[in-house]
Amino acid sequence: MARPQLRPDANGYFGPYGGRYVPETLMAPLDELAKAYDRWSRKRSFRNELRDLLTHYAGRPTPLYHAKRLTEHFGGAQIYLKREDLLHTGAHKLNNAIGQALLAKMMGKRRVIAETGAGQHGVASATAAALLGLECVVYMGVEDTVRQRLNVDRMELLGATVAPVDSGSRTLKDAINEALRDWVTNVRDTHYILGSVLGPDPYPRMVRDFHRVIGDEARRQLKKQAGTVSPDVAIACVGGGSNAIGLFTAFIDDRRVKLVGVEAGGSGEALGEHAARFGKGGSLGVLHGTRTLVLQDEEGQIAGTHSVSAGLDYPAIGPEHALLADEGRIEYTRASDTEAIAAFDLLARIEGILPALESAHALAYAGKVAPLLSKRRLILVNLSGRGDKDVESVQNWRAKEREQADAEDSTAVAEVTVHPAARKWGKSQEEAG
Ligand SMILES: Cc1ncc(COP(=O)(O)O)c(C=O)c1O
Repeated sequence: MARPQLRPDANGYFGPYGGRYVPETLMAPLDELAKAYDRWSRKRSFRNELRDLLTHYAGRPTPLYHAKRLTEHFGGAQIYLKREDLLHTGAHKLNNAIGQALLAKMMGKRRVIAETGAGQHGVASATAAALLGLECVVYMGVEDTVRQRLNVDRMELLGATVAPVDSGSRTLKDAINEALRDWVTNVRDTHYILGSVLGPDPYPRMVRDFHRVIGDEARRQLKKQAGTVSPDVAIACVGGGSNAIGLFTAFIDDRRVKLVGVEAGGSGEALGEHAARFGKGGSLGVLHGTRTLVLQDEEGQIAGTHSVSAGLDYPAIGPEHALLADEGRIEYTRASDTEAIAAFDLLARIEGILPALESAHALAYAGKVAPLLSKRRLILVNLSGRGDKDVESVQNWRAKEREQADAEDSTAVAEVTVHPAARKWGKSQEEAG
């Protein structure tokens, strides 16, 4: 784990974003957490123990893979995949979960709680809790428990309690609400393992620091495998923003590298049809203790979101991302459900890798830029997770597509049967009869 960085400022602000917008009862626990994090993250013993677990338990460093067939397919820039899908439990989330669980243990907590959308952060937290002997409760929206059933079973097998959340949109946002409620009530013996670079300070910086190993490793691996530390473009999907900031932090000061975050474009442009906070939909607001860009209506009500991938289906963005966008250092774009599914299919068939649907959004963008760049250029994509959890979602998506196509077919048939000429013909037949 690298040393903590200078940003945010002493009050937890990234420019106008971030801070701590929480009830009074959480101010003291957040202070305690910030102090503990600052203290322990500087200690050599903590850093060594974390490094040891990440290496021998979690499987770091994850490979950097030159995807030659994918590269050939697009006929342009060389595409390299940072294989976070090969980390234990199948996604980048474990870097942060182990880091926070270890910190909780140092702080004398016996219980951890977490929220989860795609289930990956829940599985990672349940895993870290089992490893370190902590009780674990994971809050999860009912809709996500259905589309990510496999991960619910995994969490339970790991000894965690999964608490389904039936309020609001029954997705990640509502799970975070419940986790915060639990934390307020049980803060004496409980640590809240927040799963992305969201929430009040110190979470955005702490989660970033636990994940920056992704980019640090990628730089070293690129040097060895491709002869340069600087890709031309680095791409990551952006839910709350943890895998993206984990990859990008190592490249922020390297201006040769273009950084691109890919949000969920969902099924359309209207509010409620996507989860893209940059661009038209997002505006300054406060959600889950942080000031950032939020999808909301004119009255400030949090908007519904949609994405085929549960992990990107969230209405706010990590505050550091909001600042990096203002500064022009990271460019944000979006990929639709359809584009993500196409990228999922392509990687499966051409490289033998099922990517998480979240990561498929980053791949979809890579597929757009690669053909525009020469073969000497290099694109680095963060493959944040594996797609085993998404097999059912992809099948359901296809079934829906087929249903829709069938419906369109039968509408076309109906239109033929009621064609005015046919009707007239039918009438004259009746009259003749
Ligand atoms: C595999 C995977 N990638 C990406 C994400 C999005 O989260 P973040 O933006 O914090 O990386 C998730 C969230 O669950 C995930 O499971």
